[in-house]
Amino acid sequence: MSNPRTLKEWIAFTALSLEGTVASPRREAELLLRAFYQEDSLWILRNDTMIVEETQRLYEWVMRRAAQEPLEYICNRVSFYSQEFFIQRGALIPRPETELLIEQTLAHVNAYAALNVVEVGIGSGIISIVLAQYLPHARFIGIDISGDALAVAQRNIENFGLSDRIELRQGSLLSCVEEAIDVVVSNPPYVANNAVLEPNLSYEPNVALFGGSVGDEILQELLLEVRQRRIGLLCCEMGYDQKEKIEASLNDFKIQSLEFYKDYSGFDRGFILRLEDE
Ligand SMILES: C[S@@+](CC[C@H](N)C(=O)[O-])C[C@H]1O[C@@H](n2cnc3c(N)ncnc32)[C@H](O)[C@@H]1O
Repeated sequence: MSNPRTLKEWIAFTALSLEGTVASPRREAELLLRAFYQEDSLWILRNDTMIVEETQRLYEWVMRRAAQEPLEYICNRVSFYSQEFFIQRGALIPRPETELLIEQTLAHVNAYAALNVVEVGIGSGIISIVLAQYLPHARFIGIDISGDALAVAQRNIENFGLSDRIELRQGSLLSCVEEAIDVVVSNPPYVANNAVLEPNLSYEPNVALFGGSVGDEILQELLLEVRQRRIGLLCCEMGYDQKEKIEASLNDFKIQSLEFYKDYSGFDRGFILRLEDE
């Protein structure tokens, strides 16, 4: 193909470059061009004869996408709960199913209470930020073991004007929180270390994906800390195959209620654990 000049030619060139690496090259090409110009699909249709400037930067985007880097890392934007967040390598790209964790959490807390909420593994900050929008009287501590993830969370928290309600701390699980905690929410890493993953996942931080040789080790440690600290409510995402093991580990916990929820594909994806006051 000769050097692309117009938007239409760039879409054709991008689709060609993505062939064999993504499932729908044409659609992905349009998404990339839309992200590059921050425009919608109608704009693309109406401007297909426009001469493209900044071709060097666009060419770099196409080559990165052709190497299977997720578009979110290339354009530094991700949509979650109908809002736009900053994202970059070093923090996990939020997944649609995590919106269910938010809905489940909101369904189990009092929206008007002055709750102390701790998020374990805050990553880009999306969970605490959305919860803070819906729980106006709650205060949040967001913990992550990764400084790179905390830097992304910090930027998003500032962008949403929530720095006075979401405090960030670097540490493992609940070790850096001495304050009383009403609710723990977490989407911990829960994939087994030896799992074979799609190539695009290689761009995401291992520490955000892998939870140990079985996969649920971090989650199990979190359960123990929640019990030791006598925390009333834990809202947690988990792997599709971890329900039975979690149920078994909770055998000797004093449980008020335990509800599992499924994701959009019908797989077990998380649980809400309410412990009895001891
Ligand atoms: C699956 S990601 C979730 C990120 C974000 N909350 C979301 O839902 O998109 C898990 C996060 O837990 C962090 N993490 C891993 N091990 C941890 C630990 N022991 N203590 C605290 N955070 C941890 C990772 O750095 C990562 O940001």
